[in-house]
Amino acid sequence: MFEPVTAHQSEVRGISKVRVAVLVSGNGSNLQSIIDHSEADKLNASIVCVISNRADAYALERASKHQIPAYHVNHSEYPDRESFDAAVLSIVKEHDTDLIVLAGFNRIISQVMLDAFPMAILNIHPALLPSFPGNRAQRNALLSGVKIAGCTVHFVDSGTDTGPIIAQAAVPVFDGDTEETLSQRILCQEHRIYPGVIQLYAEGRITVEGRKVVISRATECFADFLENPRF
Ligand code: GRF
Repeated sequence: MFEPVTAHQSEVRGISKVRVAVLVSGNGSNLQSIIDHSEADKLNASIVCVISNRADAYALERASKHQIPAYHVNHSEYPDRESFDAAVLSIVKEHDTDLIVLAGFNRIISQVMLDAFPMAILNIHPALLPSFPGNRAQRNALLSGVKIAGCTVHFVDSGTDTGPIIAQAAVPVFDGDTEETLSQRILCQEHRIYPGVIQLYAEGRITVEGRKVVISRATECFADFLENPRF
């Protein structure tokens, strides 16, 4: 489905930063982590807009606090996914966006958006894909009895959490875990690997070969199996 392609040959050596639009639906802790990394100059990327399909998403407040343009686009006002995506895209394009980052965005992306941003839409999922795609991944991990859970950053394709995997981080599952405690442990790793992947993207180090994503100059460490690549 995918031709070998190196995502975003960026101009890391100075001038231009990757322009990122973040799509959200809720709390926005991943958004916050990306904002913090960007403001700390740890990211060669700047967030140019935040768009939520829900008016009450706390993520919108987070964006406003950091003077990032924040928009609410109400999906229920559109007859189908395509027209909703077209409305979102018009804002995204207005801001000259290079990369779309889904951070807790609870809508399925239509072909309209995929075609407009080929290999330039990222998602984070709170499971070690391809296990536990879809909703309530942490709960399903607990119910299945796995001993290791985690999170995955992947390119978005037309399926649900099925796109090429860029990075994963793992965490242990403890006997006394609840959905909440496990989610929190996973979230801590999300906040590390999502900015890490955006930086890899900005540096033009991500290449997709079919299903496989290759990270150039990745640090590999055989003693530490809990994340790959290392950030
Ligand atoms: C995260 O667990 C993410 O993996 C999933 O939705 C949650 C969003 O959390 N896609 P937040 O809004 O970033 O706090």
